[in-house]
Amino acid sequence: MDPVRNPYAPGAGQRPPELAGRGRELDVFDVVLERIARGRPERSLMLTGLRGVGKTVLLNTLRSEAINHLWGTGKIEARPDQSLRRPVAAALHMAVRELAPRHRAPDRIDGFLGVLKAFAQRSAPAGRGAAAPKLRDRWQPGIDVPASSGRADSGDIEIDLVELLTDAAAVATDVGTGIAIFIDEMQDLGAEDVSALCAACHELSQLGAPLIVVGAGLPHLPAVLSAAKSYSERLFRYQRIDRLDRIAADQALCAPAEREEVEYEQKALDLLYEKSGGYPYFVQAYGKATWDHAPRSPITAADVRVAAPEAEAELAVGFFGSRFERATPAEREYMRAMASLSLIEGEESGRDDMDAAVPTAEIARSLGRKPASLSPARDALIKKGLIYSGERGTVAFTVPHFGRYLRTQPA
Ligand SMILES: Nc1ncnc2c1ncn2[C@@H]1O[C@H](COP(=O)(O)OP(=O)(O)OP(=O)(O)O)[C@@H](O)[C@H]1O
Ligand SMILES: [Mg+2]
Repeated sequence: MDPVRNPYAPGAGQRPPELAGRGRELDVFDVVLERIARGRPERSLMLTGLRGVGKTVLLNTLRSEAINHLWGTGKIEARPDQSLRRPVAAALHMAVRELAPRHRAPDRIDGFLGVLKAFAQRSAPAGRGAAAPKLRDRWQPGIDVPASSGRADSGDIEIDLVELLTDAAAVATDVGTGIAIFIDEMQDLGAEDVSALCAACHELSQLGAPLIVVGAGLPHLPAVLSAAKSYSERLFRYQRIDRLDRIAADQALCAPAEREEVEYEQKALDLLYEKSGGYPYFVQAYGKATWDHAPRSPITAADVRVAAPEAEAELAVGFFGSRFERATPAEREYMRAMASLSLIEGEESGRDDMDAAVPTAEIARSLGRKPASLSPARDALIKKGLIYSGERGTVAFTVPHFGRYLRTQPA
């Protein structure tokens, strides 16, 4: 059918034509916004899940929700080895700018911006070397107010963040709304920053201040947070974002097609679900290829069969291959061992679980190596976001169906 009218959208953070199966998460968020606006205590939200399940898309949708509620919002994408200070300053600047026109006392806004500037400048390099001033210039995204001193500028990120977020929340209180800061790839924050963020959320919730953090990250995000502060388990509300169930996956395919007056035969939907496993990225990828190959409506199982190799070839390059290429030879060897063991683990657990977690001791045994000698490869793969350790002593792929992909690749 006409590829120009193809509605499906496989891609990182790509807004799907139909956000299927996330009603519960949206409802929960609505309640959180309403409660906070009424001064009720609420916990910050953390969305966790594998690659491609739709965390970024959901985070963006929640942000739109917050904006609809007239909240101030800002978003950060955490990166390994990058300090939180600069991005959090930019995100808060954005959030407060959204609230400013509704604020009756411009000098309160200026007061906050002065604190914000002081906070941001604190992270500028200590002023040595020619590159320093340039860096600092890039740093001040148009705050005309002079930096104030004595607040949020101690250099201790924990103290500074608590003060900065408290002040931002006060601005939101003035206009009778709240501020939501969205942090994607949150597992990549450094330990100090995670700790500071937990402390700040803790403090804000005790004050009943209308500012929440909404995070998204890989399945080991809860472990990262509780390693920083043991109380984090009670501080955040975790929501596991998972693959779509059959009804939602069908809806993700059928609703956009219906708008183009295209239908699916039941058998086509059966086969598409079998192929995608309900993983949103795969739903989009198979849907897209099938649309392009199907000669007419209704789309049949035969159309899906013809299109599937193309979808798989595209996934092999764009979804799996691009990630595999980020690994060194030693890391690839580690993942290959994981892939063959995860098949065995999956079979032993009696579930149709192609992404089963694997004990690290087993990986060492299968490679004939000492476990300690494999730690660098494991740690590097965790840092690259390719594997995670959900339970002590085990690892699993962050990418759904990655084990299956690796097992089909020649060594
Ligand atoms: N609820 C949904 N219904 C249908 N399609 C969805 C849904 N959520 C996400 N998608 C699609 O799935 C793909 C992946 O979404 P997204 O990039 O948000 O995943 P992610 O969890 O952030 O992945 P990563 O961990 O790699 O960042 C996109 O193509 C998006 O359009
Ligand atoms: Mg994402």
